[in-house]
Amino acid sequence: MSTAWEPEDSERLVSAEYTDDDLEIDRSLRPRCLDEYLGQTRVKDNLAVLIEATKARDEALDHMLLSGPPGLGKTTLAGVIANELGVQMRTTSGPAIERAGDLAAILTNLDERDVLFIDEIHRLNRAVEEVLYPAMEDFKIDIVIGKGPAARSLRLDLPKFTLIGATTRTGLLTGPLRDRFGMAFRLEYYDAEELGAIVTRSAGILGVSITPDGAVEIARRGRGTPRLANRLLKRVRDYAQVRRDGVINEDVAAEALAFFEVDHMGLDRMDISILETLIDKFSGRPVGLNTLAAAVSEEPDTLEDVYEPYLLQLGFLMRTPKGRQATPRAYEHLGMKPPKDAAAQDGLF
Ligand SMILES: Nc1ncnc2c1ncn2[C@@H]1O[C@H](COP(=O)(O)OP(=O)(O)O)[C@@H](O)[C@H]1O
Ligand SMILES: [Mg+2]
Repeated sequence: MSTAWEPEDSERLVSAEYTDDDLEIDRSLRPRCLDEYLGQTRVKDNLAVLIEATKARDEALDHMLLSGPPGLGKTTLAGVIANELGVQMRTTSGPAIERAGDLAAILTNLDERDVLFIDEIHRLNRAVEEVLYPAMEDFKIDIVIGKGPAARSLRLDLPKFTLIGATTRTGLLTGPLRDRFGMAFRLEYYDAEELGAIVTRSAGILGVSITPDGAVEIARRGRGTPRLANRLLKRVRDYAQVRRDGVINEDVAAEALAFFEVDHMGLDRMDISILETLIDKFSGRPVGLNTLAAAVSEEPDTLEDVYEPYLLQLGFLMRTPKGRQATPRAYEHLGMKPPKDAAAQDGLF
């Protein structure tokens, strides 16, 4: 029987960037408490102690910065923390707060001990950021009433709240803002076992039949990223339903993922294109970020935040002072021979 079923664009499938599709997946799969939040044990152990101590002292939790590549669970963790503290969470993002007044309105509407979650906090504009300093430090804001010579500044007390900021790279934050966080946690890529547990949990919630090696097969290609692993699970489920009997085992998972052009290390067309560009177009020489981005038709920021971290983690890419360069491992992965001469010259191979 033939079906008109077509795979979705695999670039979208594997990019860790947020899509509308994720909204629906997230709502059902997002862990609500620390026990359901799998992996990240070091961060979780720390948090468990902090949360317990904070509750025992009847205080607001210290402001906290969460960093790490997209899809690793920053937003989820903020929600888990608020839930464990038994407080409300208000969510906004750096680019969404356009004026100082917008932030003032949010802050004055918080209740005592609430969590204010600011996603992409590195993208706050300077005027807004300056309102945040006294708010974080002294729980006060200055607002200006009136215009011109009659304008007066008024100091308002705020409830003791907790700011949780999330960013893909701590380096993008201004010094003064970074200094005002009492704690900073960096989320790491999940190992295959942790990701396998996440896939298994998600399959349970979605009512999908999956064997343990089916979960491992999906996890292996999930780039250490829960959002991607969940997305792959959903696609493999579709494939298993349409082409097979609905059960996801190792074979079905491998077949489906090959169909979606996700290779055995989780690299998609864009990753491969980045490596091939470095190797072929630029003959293995170091290439600057902007040049590379232009060559693969991608935004430099996206390249740096979304694609590079995983390639670096795999040891396929190096950042040298002269630019980005593919490593011998990348050549190997693509079935190519590293160029011996250029190599020796750059002291790389
Ligand atoms: N530790 C975890 N355990 C289980 N699922 C997770 C975990 N971290 C993230 N997820 C899943 O991955 C999805 C993406 O996480 P999210 O918090 O939105 O990432 P980020 O904010 O870092 O981009 C969530 O919807 C959730 O279902
Ligand atoms: Mg997020």
